[in-house]
Amino acid sequence: MEVKTEELLKIYDKEVLNVKELVFKSGLITAIVGPNGSGKSTLLNIIAATLKKDGGRVYYDGSLTVPLQKMTIVFQKPFLIDASVYMNIAYPLKIRKIPKEEIKDRVEKIARDLNIEDLLNKNAHHLSGGEKAKVSLARALIFKPELLLLDEPCASLDPYIITEIEKILLKINKEEKTTIILITHDLSEAKRIADEILLLNKGKVVALKKRDDFFNSDDETVRRFINGELLI
Ligand SMILES: Nc1ncnc2c1ncn2[C@@H]1O[C@H](COP(=O)(O)OP(=O)(O)OP(=O)(O)O)[C@@H](O)[C@H]1O
Ligand SMILES: [Mg+2]
Repeated sequence: MEVKTEELLKIYDKEVLNVKELVFKSGLITAIVGPNGSGKSTLLNIIAATLKKDGGRVYYDGSLTVPLQKMTIVFQKPFLIDASVYMNIAYPLKIRKIPKEEIKDRVEKIARDLNIEDLLNKNAHHLSGGEKAKVSLARALIFKPELLLLDEPCASLDPYIITEIEKILLKINKEEKTTIILITHDLSEAKRIADEILLLNKGKVVALKKRDDFFNSDDETVRRFINGELLI
């Protein structure tokens, strides 16, 4: 699903997002990077329609109608219900009135893919951070969204789990043509999985470029960000 934004604006006590135009191409993985407070989560939540904007438009495949049934967001802090992992993952299918047997098959398949079969009967509130991240991802992937929005899905996870999550993202992107927009603080992650990279600073777009063009960019702000110098 292509996402296009125009004239997006978000103001709290000050302006935190002011973006003229952006296009997230269909079927690609786009990484959003930028310093703390640069507006990454604000932008992603506006696209997800989980945050009200103060101006502008978001088009989903050219339409202003929010395709709630076809997209999902995984928040920076995983939100899981106080029930078994199975129930958490099955939830999006239950509310879509999918038959019980099919739900069971699909939960078991996604749990195998993410290597969390052993956790299915555990209470989701008793999981470790990495386990919670995988369960949130499983719940997001189970209904095969056309647009998947991820706010730092790999923050504070160990390298093994990060590799597993990256593999599954690449797999669904390839097999289901899922459009993925993910926020990351890890430039090496962006390099490994993103087709395009968007750099935000102080609520504004610095660059939206193909991965290799981004890392080879001679734009001074991009270079300073890549070199780990603070953008102030
Ligand atoms: N509810 C709110 N009320 C007031 N200010 C807010 C609110 N939510 C976010 N902000 C401000 O908006 C700016 C952008 O926040 P946002 O969460 O989008 O940043 P971010 O790029 O995701 O940062 P991080 O990398 O730390 O997650 C920040 O200055 C933040 O303090
Ligand atoms: Mg954030």
